[in-house]
Amino acid sequence: MSQVAYTPRVFSGIQPSGGLTLGNYLGAMKRFVDMQDEGIETIYCMVDLHAITVWQDPDKLRRATRELCAGYIASGLDPEKSILFNQSQVAEHTQMAWIFNCVARMGWMQRMTQFKDKAGKNAQNASLGLLAYPSLMAADILVYHTTHVPVGEDQKQHLELTRDIAAKFNHDYGVDFFPITEPLIEGAATRVMSLRDGSKKMSKSDPSDMSRINLTDDADTIAKKIRKAKTDPEPLPSEVEGLAERPEARNLINIYAALNEQSVAQVMADVGGRAFSEFKPMLAELAVSKISPISGEMARLMQDTAEIDRILASGAARARAIAAPILKQTYEIVGMVGA
Ligand code: AMP
Ligand code: TRP
Repeated sequence: MSQVAYTPRVFSGIQPSGGLTLGNYLGAMKRFVDMQDEGIETIYCMVDLHAITVWQDPDKLRRATRELCAGYIASGLDPEKSILFNQSQVAEHTQMAWIFNCVARMGWMQRMTQFKDKAGKNAQNASLGLLAYPSLMAADILVYHTTHVPVGEDQKQHLELTRDIAAKFNHDYGVDFFPITEPLIEGAATRVMSLRDGSKKMSKSDPSDMSRINLTDDADTIAKKIRKAKTDPEPLPSEVEGLAERPEARNLINIYAALNEQSVAQVMADVGGRAFSEFKPMLAELAVSKISPISGEMARLMQDTAEIDRILASGAARARAIAAPILKQTYEIVGMVGA
């Protein structure tokens, strides 16, 4: 087959497995909005089937899925411009994932650091879904012939695996059918760290709520968490190199830069030499001004969950219209009768 020209298409997803953090916002959602506004076709998913790779309370999962949709919209995604839907409504994802389960190798899955972290010491007791998860993620992406995937740094390995699956499928079947997708891991905040420990990622699953800023936190809570964030005793340096050995300072500067849409160097030029006692209130004010409107809008949208469900259903229908023919062609390539 000759080289296919793929239309540029963006896909990304977030798990509805708890509240959204500033890490999700800066590493993913804010970038989703930027891409939508560049005029490319954008598809953003609430990956509920990924969430159940570890047990979820059904009522909480339903709520988290709707709240994630509200978060997407409150952050600036427009359900007319972008396709917004939850993964389980488009069965083509899981159908494609089965094909990829037969392409991907066990060893590839067992090497994934997220699997190792989440499975912990007793990997034999992890769900089979947790191991197979990156194959479903590859299916999410490739069932749309996605060319670009904006994500945070922690997803890099899964995207490399997606490329390996696409390449192996193309090679095994002698076709040039799946694109080799580009990861978009960009900006000042591709890895937002915990406010309590600059060596750990900010995460919705961290036991300490002080370690993260939730998109649902009110202004006082955001300000308090920033005031109490771990720092060191030195004033801020004026050059980026001065942050090398100072993970907590670097994290707060990166957050400031990403929220204020500036480069890290620009921020350093402005705040270099200041003490944290001066810089933290600046950061708190900036964070409150950017996050509070989002949490307010999320709360408003959550009052009408029927409307959210309508948005998800209509997004799912649009998504299926793209995915179904690509799955059909995949079945034909693989040799399924009746495809
Ligand atoms: P998750 O919440 O694990 O489903 O992640 C959803 C998206 O948010 C992915 O693109 C992640 O890479 C991104 N993300 C999650 N936590 C962080 C963080 N601390 N810093 C930057 N990006 C993050
Ligand atoms: N694995 C991603 C995470 O945990 C979520 C995800 C699932 C995803 N499918 C995706 C991200 C496809 C980008 C593209 O954050």
